[in-house]
Amino acid sequence: MSNLNGQLEALHQEALATLAATQSLAETEAWYHEYLGRKGKLTAILRGLGQLSKEERPLVGKRANEIKEALEQALKQRQEVVAVEEMERTLAAEAVDVTMPGRRPLLGKLHPTNQAMREMVEILKQMGFQVFDSPEVETDDYNFGLLNFPPDHPAREMQDTFFTTTPNVILRTHTSPGQLHAMRKYAPEPIRVILPGKCYRNEDVTARSEMMFYQIEGLAVGRHITFSDLKGTLLNFANQMYGEGRRIRFRRSYFPFTEPSVEVDVDCILCGGAGCRLCKYTGWLEILGAGMVHPVVLKNGGYDPAIFSGFAFGMGIERQAMLKRGVDDIRLFYSNDVRFLARV
Ligand code: FA5
Repeated sequence: MSNLNGQLEALHQEALATLAATQSLAETEAWYHEYLGRKGKLTAILRGLGQLSKEERPLVGKRANEIKEALEQALKQRQEVVAVEEMERTLAAEAVDVTMPGRRPLLGKLHPTNQAMREMVEILKQMGFQVFDSPEVETDDYNFGLLNFPPDHPAREMQDTFFTTTPNVILRTHTSPGQLHAMRKYAPEPIRVILPGKCYRNEDVTARSEMMFYQIEGLAVGRHITFSDLKGTLLNFANQMYGEGRRIRFRRSYFPFTEPSVEVDVDCILCGGAGCRLCKYTGWLEILGAGMVHPVVLKNGGYDPAIFSGFAFGMGIERQAMLKRGVDDIRLFYSNDVRFLARV
């Protein structure tokens, strides 16, 4: 017999041995390419058949085909075994110990600002105020001009402003510009709206001041609205927000868009008015600014000030959340410390 026959037998033995050593389906796949594939070793030998004599060719050819079939059969069997072994290994590796104690999933919760905002909105909604959305990016006119801040008036300095590269476009410094959006949308109908949202001021960030914070604006416009309505609304709010029996106090103040203007305090929720560290021994905590809507603002909003009157107020959400939850540094709200966020 030819040398080719010897090669065939040797290859047969080698192939069986290496097949037996495969451990995964990927390895059997590689084995197939090495021996039976188009560029495989057996295929190479079969290509050499042409050089054999007429007598030898059918004999060697027959043997080669037998070996090919035998190897294909062996491969099939090996793949079945390896597949089972692979499955067993995977099952063992991914086994679940059902007796282990479970891990409690971490539950998220509302951000403290959102908690306070929802609480405040809920109280005001009960009094008939509707939420009105207004933009955070404003024109200078809406943020100041239409609110009766004359150009270059020192009152603008109370609200240090972030300007944009577009002339007259700024980030709103308070929610009051929303008053004009609401009035211009509804005039001459009477309105009672609240406007919760973000404000921006170019401030030095301290324990009490952030450069981004939230306010809720309130606005009521109608016939015969008086300062008593403002007082009643805010007293009701303070009682629901800080507990029954709270007292509030009005101090005169100045805002260009209200006349008269006031700052409103609530009696200290910690000491009840006796004086403590929280209220700096005054017995009172400031919660908001308010006043009767200035006639010029009413007119800018589309209401005749001879017929209509209104009140407005604006309060900081974080500062009220701080009071209510005993937080002494506003910077905690936006520093993403989950220990704080989980606690409050
Ligand atoms: C105003 O912004 C007026 N627009 C409020 C107003 C509305 C008055 C309607 C009259 C009628 P003021 O600058 O005082 O006012 O801000 C109101 C509240 O926003 C403050 O009492 C405070 O709670 C909050 N606030 C202001 N600046 C900051 C800041 N840098 N960080 C956190 N809270 C702030």
